[in-house]
Amino acid sequence: MTVPARDRIRPALPDDAPAMARVFAAAIEGKAACSYGPRERAAWIARGSADRLAAMVEDPDHNLFVAEAGPGPTGLTGLAGLRGCEVSLLYTAPLAAPGTGARLLRAVESLAREIGLEGLTLNASRNALAFYLAQGYAVLRLANRPLPGGVSLPVCLMAKTLAP
Ligand SMILES: CC(C)(COP(=O)(O)OP(=O)(O)OC[C@H]1O[C@@H](n2cnc3c(N)ncnc32)[C@H](O)[C@@H]1OP(=O)(O)O)[C@@H](O)C(=O)NCCC(=O)NCCS
Repeated sequence: MTVPARDRIRPALPDDAPAMARVFAAAIEGKAACSYGPRERAAWIARGSADRLAAMVEDPDHNLFVAEAGPGPTGLTGLAGLRGCEVSLLYTAPLAAPGTGARLLRAVESLAREIGLEGLTLNASRNALAFYLAQGYAVLRLANRPLPGGVSLPVCLMAKTLAP
């Protein structure tokens, strides 16, 4: 029997930033094109530049994880983040092993429990709404995420209570 490959989840390192930016852009182009137009996607992708992600990795208030299928920059397949009580980032490359997004989210939730958080919030993109519902998040309300260039991304504010 073949056991499906599982990408390793580990804390992000500063050197990961360029590969994280590539995954960020590939996730949006590969998985969000049905929900957002080219202008919205371009403004969204610009928020995941290598410089900005490197600053997030260095930020002690921001906990970032990556998934990797193998060594080197091309082995990186996903990223996730926790800042305060918010899931700040969750992106997987189109070729990531099935389940990578769910496992990254579980890593964020485990850390949240460890540091004593009782619940998490997030702004779900339209394309990710069904994914988050399946992961136990509930819709609070529709919202808009302002992006540079006067673009506003319609999203959905969601929350989940964490069992101890
Ligand atoms: C949302 C995202 C992180 C999910 O990660 P993923 O690696 O594709 O998801 P997984 O493979 O872990 O899927 C887990 C389960 O959710 C389901 N699922 C995944 N994406 C789904 C979607 N868009 N709609 C419905 N179900 C979905 C899978 O089928 C799987 O179900 P199963 O457990 O019954 O087999 C990923 O699709 C992504 O990067 N999207 C683009 C960027 C984005 O919108 N990020 C969220 C920002 S808020």
